[in-house]
Amino acid sequence: MTGLTKDKLVIDGGVPLYGEVRISGAKNAALPLLAATLLAPGEHVLHNVPDLRDTRTMLQLLESLGAHWERQGDTVRVNTETLTSAEAPYDLVKTMRASVLVLGPLLSRMGYARVSLPGGCAIGARPIDYHLKGFEVLGVHSALDQGYVEAKVADRLKGGCIRFGTPSPTATENLLMASVCAAGETRIENAAREPEVGNLVDMLNAMGANIEGKDSNCLIVHGVERLHATTVSVIPDRIETGTYMIAVAACGGKVLLKDCVPDHLQALSEKLQLCGLVIEAGASDMLVYCPEGERGSECALQSIDVVTQPYPGFPTDLQAQFMALMTLSKDTAIIHETIFENRFMHVAELARMGADITIEGSRAVVRGSGRGGLSGAPVMATDLRASASLVIAALAARGRTEIFRIYHLERGYEKMAEKLRGLGARISRQRE
Ligand code: EPU
Repeated sequence: MTGLTKDKLVIDGGVPLYGEVRISGAKNAALPLLAATLLAPGEHVLHNVPDLRDTRTMLQLLESLGAHWERQGDTVRVNTETLTSAEAPYDLVKTMRASVLVLGPLLSRMGYARVSLPGGCAIGARPIDYHLKGFEVLGVHSALDQGYVEAKVADRLKGGCIRFGTPSPTATENLLMASVCAAGETRIENAAREPEVGNLVDMLNAMGANIEGKDSNCLIVHGVERLHATTVSVIPDRIETGTYMIAVAACGGKVLLKDCVPDHLQALSEKLQLCGLVIEAGASDMLVYCPEGERGSECALQSIDVVTQPYPGFPTDLQAQFMALMTLSKDTAIIHETIFENRFMHVAELARMGADITIEGSRAVVRGSGRGGLSGAPVMATDLRASASLVIAALAARGRTEIFRIYHLERGYEKMAEKLRGLGARISRQRE
């Protein structure tokens, strides 16, 4: 894994994208689903699990708790018959915040968990107070000890009413997993409605849980005595899908995105259509292209404002990529980030490629310089989605871009260079 840190991406831009690309399973669904295997002893089978740095970290974490697993293609079998530890160590949590997702299942199954507190991360402070306050409602006593959250429950967890200040996907998932076997009823209000939460609800119900309100902002959990192992499929990655849609808008061309869920991308699709992209959605695929001869260079991009919101609003995880696109538009776009306070790390790197962006608090004012307005440069990836925005900028820029620290990209995009090469992009991975 550490070897990845030495790779860079080299991209010669200006090539329209043509062909087909298969969308992988969603990172942010696979992580809670893998954590949920801890809830019930036995062999769980997960299909469509993307092979990413983050899913490997989660599997390593499950292994450190005593689980065994094996991967065959995109199917992962996790055996959680015997757990030998209830501790998520700092070394793993520091590389992946989503490690905190083991807290809920460990509390449910073992009545105890010790999980390193995630520190700040590149996109903001990102507290876990909602998780801890929610656990308290369920009867958990937690305390901080040497950088670790130590959480215990005296007897069985008991149901209660939890209301989040803003919808948080991982807090909703953690509380769902903690409450499925609690005594009585648990209500989770202002719950996150992201499709990844729905994927977890389906898995938990298939394990024997009784959860109502899937896809709504109020989830009601009727506690059951026990759960059993199950088989589940990870939903397609809507952020990967959106990233490729934006790449086509930026470069021009015509691409069929296969094995995706167009319904999960409504907010982005509306914006991209206003920009000038044509989108033909099927049941599980989407054809996206630029009109006018399908060559990006021939169709001017409209400048469109966006405000990031919890699902079904415009996703914060596509904000950086959309900003890269707006640097190629013909006018000025305002991008307002409302979820995270520090998610503009890509701005300085895009500026190195010629982008004209001013930050005003939580808003970015992007003055597009039209197609052909960016030029290649050496740039540094700073976090996962910032890295994806640099890839999009590089694909559309004149000349060569080198992107360093691509290990960020490998946390969340399966075979990105290979997939883009399959669409005709001139992209290669080289030793730094
Ligand atoms: N929040 C709190 N207190 C908490 C938890 C959250 O105030 O205890 C607030 C945050 O400050 C923020 C909002 O709730 O305003 C949501 O943030 P949170 O940190 O809870 O997000 P998350 O559930 O941990 C997931 C995705 C992120 C994605 C966000 C928002 C996973 C593993 N991660 O994080 O994905 O940006 O939801 O949609 O599901 C990514 O994939 O690149 C990524 C960062």
